[in-house]
Amino acid sequence: DTPLLVDRYGRVARDLRVSITTACSLRCTYCMPAEGLPLVPQDELMTPEEIGRLVGIGVRDLGIRDIRFTGGEPLMRRDLEQIIGAARTAADDAMSSVEAGRTTTRATPERVRIAMTSNALGLDKRVGTLVAAGLDRVNVSLDTVDREAFATLTRRDRLDDVLKGIRAALAAGLAPVKINAVLLPETLAGAADLLAWAVEHGCNLRFIEEMPLDADGQWTRDDVVSAADLLSRLEERFTLTPAGREDPSAPAEEWLVGDGPATVGIIASVTRSFCGACDRTRLTAEGTVRSCLFGNEETDLKALLRNGATDDEVGDAWRAAMWAKPRAHGSDAVELAADAFADTERSMGAIGG
Ligand code: GTP
Ligand code: 5AD
Ligand code: SF4
Repeated sequence: DTPLLVDRYGRVARDLRVSITTACSLRCTYCMPAEGLPLVPQDELMTPEEIGRLVGIGVRDLGIRDIRFTGGEPLMRRDLEQIIGAARTAADDAMSSVEAGRTTTRATPERVRIAMTSNALGLDKRVGTLVAAGLDRVNVSLDTVDREAFATLTRRDRLDDVLKGIRAALAAGLAPVKINAVLLPETLAGAADLLAWAVEHGCNLRFIEEMPLDADGQWTRDDVVSAADLLSRLEERFTLTPAGREDPSAPAEEWLVGDGPATVGIIASVTRSFCGACDRTRLTAEGTVRSCLFGNEETDLKALLRNGATDDEVGDAWRAAMWAKPRAHGSDAVELAADAFADTERSMGAIGG
């Protein structure tokens, strides 16, 4: 009878996304302004110890079972190995106490999965130490395998370095490596080539409808390249068979490519939103809880930690923040104004997707 992170609509959050920096080595147009985002002052960033403590509370007391580090770009933190190590230790200790408290024993004890979402720049040099620290999986943001289009979209000419990072992750056994591609006119043009690359390298590709979280506020709903546009483009070159979702709360709907086993997924946050099955809770790099990608309410857990709060007090504040989670973002909730969707104060680079 763990007091779960449950909201007014009955959704339970078991998936924790932790942003650990707003810095990034790329400048994707849909995520960041050309000059980058303001950096969080060093003493406002959560430390590895603070992250470990929150992970321990989340797993032991609140039912968290999946942890994903995001950014900005997680690799921008020189202490990423310490962060992952602290999360691994805290999560494993917390699971041991959960298992010890069970009245029935399980054949295979549950293990918390630790993942990160990265642009893979420099991953080749660190993948060994990250896996040793306790990392299980990585998702890589890659919108195109066309060098010029990549340089335009990310404002940096570094496609080859990203591909090197992905190959290193595959070689280190971090399977499945999922690739995230944001759907834009440029990515639609190269979508079939990107899928061919993913199939050849054994990566699971997912396309994501662009959400209104670009730093420049250029997003309009009319410009969104939809899942439907993408499917008809891919079907010119591939036979696709609907394969449903990995699990009911997974953001991506999947299609089998040819006879499989390769799949391609679509995260249709805008045209087929999935708020009703959301199982996510988020922490920002400054240690505040965000109950939803959209919606600006944040509760400062780091301040509680630094002011000497107990684990129970921190857990209570986290649960109160999640109880107030909005039912849906603006484009999903008919009763909300259409522009509520575009009203988020932080851009994607400061929330971490
Ligand atoms: P897996 O467990 O590997 O499938 O990871 P994931 O898809 O949950 O994580 P990832 O960081 O790769 O996110 C992929 C895309 O899904 C990003 O663009 C996210 O912004 C989007 N996404 C993840 N969670 C949510 C959510 O709660 N709401 C919305 N609207 N989009 C989300
Ligand atoms: N809309 C949709 N997805 C986005 N991402 C970044 N900005 C946006 C946006 N405006 C994606 C990146 C990354 C993931 C965490 O979020 O591709 O893989
Ligand atoms: Fe960096 Fe990812 Fe944002 Fe691109 S989408 S600028 S790689 S944080």
